[in-house]
Amino acid sequence: MADWIDNALYHPTYGYFSRNVVIFQAKRPIPFNDLLDNTAVLNHVEVLYEEHDAAMDAAGRDQQTWHTPVEMFHPYYGQALARYFLERHAAAATAPGAGHGPLVVYEAGAGNGTLMADVLDYVAATAPAVYATMEYHVIEISGQLRDKQRARAAAKGHTARVAIHASSVLDMHGPPEHRPCFVVGCEIIDNLAHDLVVYDAQTLEPYQGVVLVDEDNNFEEAYEPLASPDLVELLEQRAALGFPNGAQRRSWWDRVRAKLPLAPNVVGREYLPTRLWQLLKVLHRQFPQHRIVLTDFDQLPGAVPGHLGPVVQTRHNGEMVPCQTPLVLPGWFDIFFPTDFTLMQALYHAARPSHMQEVARDAPPTRIVTQTDFLRKYGDLKATQTSSGENPLTAFYQNVRLLLS
Ligand SMILES: C[S@@+](CC[C@H](N)C(=O)[O-])C[C@H]1O[C@@H](n2cnc3c(N)ncnc32)[C@H](O)[C@@H]1O
Repeated sequence: MADWIDNALYHPTYGYFSRNVVIFQAKRPIPFNDLLDNTAVLNHVEVLYEEHDAAMDAAGRDQQTWHTPVEMFHPYYGQALARYFLERHAAAATAPGAGHGPLVVYEAGAGNGTLMADVLDYVAATAPAVYATMEYHVIEISGQLRDKQRARAAAKGHTARVAIHASSVLDMHGPPEHRPCFVVGCEIIDNLAHDLVVYDAQTLEPYQGVVLVDEDNNFEEAYEPLASPDLVELLEQRAALGFPNGAQRRSWWDRVRAKLPLAPNVVGREYLPTRLWQLLKVLHRQFPQHRIVLTDFDQLPGAVPGHLGPVVQTRHNGEMVPCQTPLVLPGWFDIFFPTDFTLMQALYHAARPSHMQEVARDAPPTRIVTQTDFLRKYGDLKATQTSSGENPLTAFYQNVRLLLS
């Protein structure tokens, strides 16, 4: 299933990401101080979205647009992260035996380059000495977005500070980055493909879901014994970390029903983050001294059935069309998953190679925070407050979390 989803999203010719990805970008920051309350902000954003959609329709581009906190709260989201980087960077410099290395950031999946520009603007304005040696690396899979990011860096005068790497973050190889650095991913892990696993209702043996395509191009779900090495490794890791599997999570009704005639022969349907597991291993290998900032949704409304099931949707004739299965025409649909942050945190530590477990004693501990709490601490709450006192920076996106180290 993970291969099927990878193909649907990332195929270089017809994959969803190759088909002119669009991420909403407001022409000007939202004037939070001038708006009455959070409802007024939502109305303002609604008008911006409608204008954006109308422009897309006029250009004959029937595409879904991503709306991300980075764009919605531009430039305040990037400023908040920049404050966090500067705080951690300064703390690291005062640690016993620490040197004064540059502030190095790697952003995976930088979209329109908005976070990059906002972080660099903030560091340039508030910490020019740090900015003078700072490096901001982008790892971006989309050629069209890489062009946009380059243009953005140039327009803001940051070209000398920016390096853009044409790669999937999963395919990073070559000499590792041995310097201390931050690795940031905002709304990138939700698109990382998952595998489908079900359990035999009688024996509770796990099976992996596969997609069969017949000669008329109809898609059908089928199950076969576990074959993917990454999936097997992930299932073993999850069990070793004490997380329940789909069979253990199955409902009381599933347990009773298995004893009745005509009961379904599989139970415990669940999606496993196979590519996220790969990513965590890549991060430890390529960036052995990194600090992580991974942010995404921990819950999504309208997901397909099954534990950690994805949202599958597309835009057609100006309307959002949700689907109840990932077995859809490859390339036409966005497929994105909620993240179980507690599981990701445990896997993050487990993904560190055994020869690095020694070093792990000195590695910064990880924590999961809500976006609300993060922005309450690092965000500019004055600049984002509405005239009634409500603040969308801390009120919106309640289902977004960050994994930090
Ligand atoms: C939803 S957008 C988010 C963009 C930006 N981080 C933001 O929050 O506005 C996802 C971004 O990740 C990129 N991307 C997706 N999968 C990737 C991968 N495997 N490696 C590198 N970039 C990837 C996309 O091209 C896009 O730039």
